[in-house]
Amino acid sequence: MKLGITIGVLGILAVVLLAATIFAQAQARRPARPASGGNISFANTTLPKSETEKKILAVLEEISEEQRRGNMTVPYGDGRILRVLTESIGAKHVVEIGTSIGYSALWFSLALQKTGGKLTTFEINAERAAKARANWKRAGVESFVTLVEGDAHEEVKKLKEPIDILFLDADKQGYLDYLEKLLPLVRPGGLIVAHNMDQRMADPRYVKAITSNPELETLFLNMETSGIGVSLKKR
Ligand SMILES: C[S@@+](CC[C@H](N)C(=O)[O-])C[C@H]1O[C@@H](n2cnc3c(N)ncnc32)[C@H](O)[C@@H]1O
Repeated sequence: MKLGITIGVLGILAVVLLAATIFAQAQARRPARPASGGNISFANTTLPKSETEKKILAVLEEISEEQRRGNMTVPYGDGRILRVLTESIGAKHVVEIGTSIGYSALWFSLALQKTGGKLTTFEINAERAAKARANWKRAGVESFVTLVEGDAHEEVKKLKEPIDILFLDADKQGYLDYLEKLLPLVRPGGLIVAHNMDQRMADPRYVKAITSNPELETLFLNMETSGIGVSLKKR
């Protein structure tokens, strides 16, 4: 009888000890209350560092929301991502498929004016191509941006130079063809960036190609909005 009571008391003690240990560990893992009280605003914009940046950013600002929507340009935040990727890898040659009115090209230009690089961009629609050229002239970037007019599936076959960043933003069903034609030109350490990698627009054949090739390391960004695939061609 006495032995039974002792075992019972010991059992209860063990349970209490275990609960206390778990509680103490959970408390230790809890982050300290932030000094801001959790009210930090992370909203930010691109701030011009030079007159050149100011001029390019002014043209980006001039292109209205309505114009951007009508011409299917990348959103502002995605443009900033393109600039950061380009400048951080010191890209000398960016190839873009799908120029539209040259909005994303202006984001690339912010980086390329620093890296001393150039952009080759392809557009099938003559009206949009003309608008792009006018935007680049106002921004003062036309000396390092070349627009190739025509069907990019044919025109890219003429490319010979190494590519640091390949940006796919034209006909979604064509991404796989562009990848197959241009991956050999992307330098080791270069990036293939694909826009509209969302459930509705992405071509499953392209997604399979960039996620099943051991030569590539692929990440997906901004999946809750526009969806961007970033594939590193491994060294
Ligand atoms: C989504 S928009 C590009 C937006 C642009 N990258 C920007 O963010 O400012 C796609 C463009 O690709 C062009 N396009 C579609 N198929 C094409 C093809 N086969 N060759 C060249 N351009 C093409 C369209 O005319 C359109 O202007």
